[in-house]
Amino acid sequence: MLRTHTCGELNSKHIDTTITLCGWVDRWRDHGGVIFIDVRDRWGVTQLVFNPEYDKDLHDQAAKLRSEFVIQATGTVRHRPEGTVNKKLPTGEVEIVVTKLELLNQSDTPPIDVSDEKDASEDLRLKYRFLDLRRKKMYKNLELRYRINKEARDYLDKEKFIELETPCLTKSTPEGARDYLVPCRMNKGTFYALPQSPQLFKQILMVAGYDRYFQLARCFRDEDLRADRQPEHTQIDIEMSYITEEDIYLLIEGMIQRICKNALGREIAVPFQRISYCEAMNTYGTDKPDLRFEMKIQDVTEIVKGTEFKIFGNVIKSGGVIKGLKIAGMSKMSRKDFDDLTAFVAQYGAKGLAWFKVTKDGFDSPIKKFFTDETLNKIRETFKAQEGDVLTFVASDWHTSCVSLGALRLHLARIMKSIDESKFMFCWVVDFPLLEYNEDEKRMQAMHHPFTSPCSEDIALIDSDPLKMKARAYDLVFNGTEIGGGSIRIHQEAIQEKMFTALNITKEEAEEKFGFLLRALRYGAPPHGGIALGLDRLVAMLLGLDSIRDVIAFPKTQKGTCPLTAAPSEVSEKQLNELHLRVRQ
Ligand code: AMO
Ligand code: AMP
Repeated sequence: MLRTHTCGELNSKHIDTTITLCGWVDRWRDHGGVIFIDVRDRWGVTQLVFNPEYDKDLHDQAAKLRSEFVIQATGTVRHRPEGTVNKKLPTGEVEIVVTKLELLNQSDTPPIDVSDEKDASEDLRLKYRFLDLRRKKMYKNLELRYRINKEARDYLDKEKFIELETPCLTKSTPEGARDYLVPCRMNKGTFYALPQSPQLFKQILMVAGYDRYFQLARCFRDEDLRADRQPEHTQIDIEMSYITEEDIYLLIEGMIQRICKNALGREIAVPFQRISYCEAMNTYGTDKPDLRFEMKIQDVTEIVKGTEFKIFGNVIKSGGVIKGLKIAGMSKMSRKDFDDLTAFVAQYGAKGLAWFKVTKDGFDSPIKKFFTDETLNKIRETFKAQEGDVLTFVASDWHTSCVSLGALRLHLARIMKSIDESKFMFCWVVDFPLLEYNEDEKRMQAMHHPFTSPCSEDIALIDSDPLKMKARAYDLVFNGTEIGGGSIRIHQEAIQEKMFTALNITKEEAEEKFGFLLRALRYGAPPHGGIALGLDRLVAMLLGLDSIRDVIAFPKTQKGTCPLTAAPSEVSEKQLNELHLRVRQ
């Protein structure tokens, strides 16, 4: 080795020993002619001292060092002088009096300050990712990612799972996003799709008898990117045979518990709370509820039925609902504040936001006159509203009322700082509808994916009232983010075919797209089910980070580009010709 120790391990036990360190020049300081250099590697920093009174040449050599130069320094460990001990640093008790210095490499002036805790612009960070990744924060993030991976692997290994790889060059798997396609040179005009998940392969592995499969699988989805979405992400992908939902809950709760304990030193209570999709929507206005704070949505449709307020009356007549949210202690809100909140909910389709302030004498609201005292009192009771509280309402179809108030709930909690950031709140969202109607595309679609089993008692509804069918699906939600999803699958060909019919997929289409799965189902497919956890999201959330890009070594920008490599990029005419492709202008 070029070194005897790392830059993070020397302490008072090493005093008077001769050591050699290698690393980057982190900080460089000159105090009254004595040069102090912090040398840095993955494990930490150690202070080097160059005193001209001890060695003038060495001091002059050190004077020429700049940030990110790579050095090898040999010297003696000594205690730092009284008053200069840095308690925050593991090596803060000692410093090295250097006796030999070797410059291993120089560096251009870095466009990112590696020793600085502050983030540079995202574009710069990604273009110079090799510098950005040298920062302490990034080591911590990526080491924790590894630790979480390892805990998941070790846990699943102990639970008798085996890790198997499935292909990246494959056929389209339907997870609701667009596919990335790869042209096939050897078969003109044909394409592979990169997998959106290993869904169909893991089901086929169950048919093949590889019960208890897992994989840290790379998944590719061409969709609009956000802070918690990347074009390629990693899943802890799991599938088992002869199980029910309960087996999945138990397995995953144990895994999360182990990860939190061993990787973060945190105890997590199990079992996780279970909330039905319907309850989650009604109470929190979303299928990924953030349970770190209360603020529950209430339904007052029954109470205000028969009111003179036309807007409410008309919505109720057309089958809609009136739902509301209490904003505690915010009676100082102005008309402008309400206009802002109205504009906020409008983004989610709400046509307005009615409001009432609870005052000493009753209520204050522009629409108070339309409501009887009895109605107002019932509303007040429903919300357990006190003087100084504000009640806001959206009248709309069920979905719009829920979703707009759910968004308002989060918006207000952030403004009012009522979210306890230190809390870890996991829950299962269950009892999802099997199908949903896509208004834009005017067609039925699977809420999870088309291989999700309906609840057995609902199968009879598949022809008569398919939207009423419930799915044997579950999502794992952590502090308001969906970090996993899965289901018990359909294992009988006849039901799978019925499902395709409900989704308006013709026999020919089904055969063309999923024929291989249907064929497998004909050869003794066992009942099976599974789940996939979004690893990037899980790690980012456990670390309390806003963006999953901070837990991925080489992520893409929001526009799907990689500033480091400049991908995606154009290719040569020759390459296109080999692939039988032409770019249309
Ligand atoms: P699903 O599509 O719900 O299920 O994905 C599972 C989990 O993966 C994460 N995830 C993402 N993370 C980052 N960037 C993305 N673009 C992205 N898309 C999804 C989410 C999500 O909960 N085959 C099924 C699983 C199954 O049924 O077993 C599947 O892929 O955290
Ligand atoms: P207007 O009669 O349009 O002035 O509306 C009177 C009040 O009702 C205003 O505070 C509006 O924001 C509110 N309002 C209008 N439409 C709705 C709706 N769909 N849901 C809740 N409040 C509404």
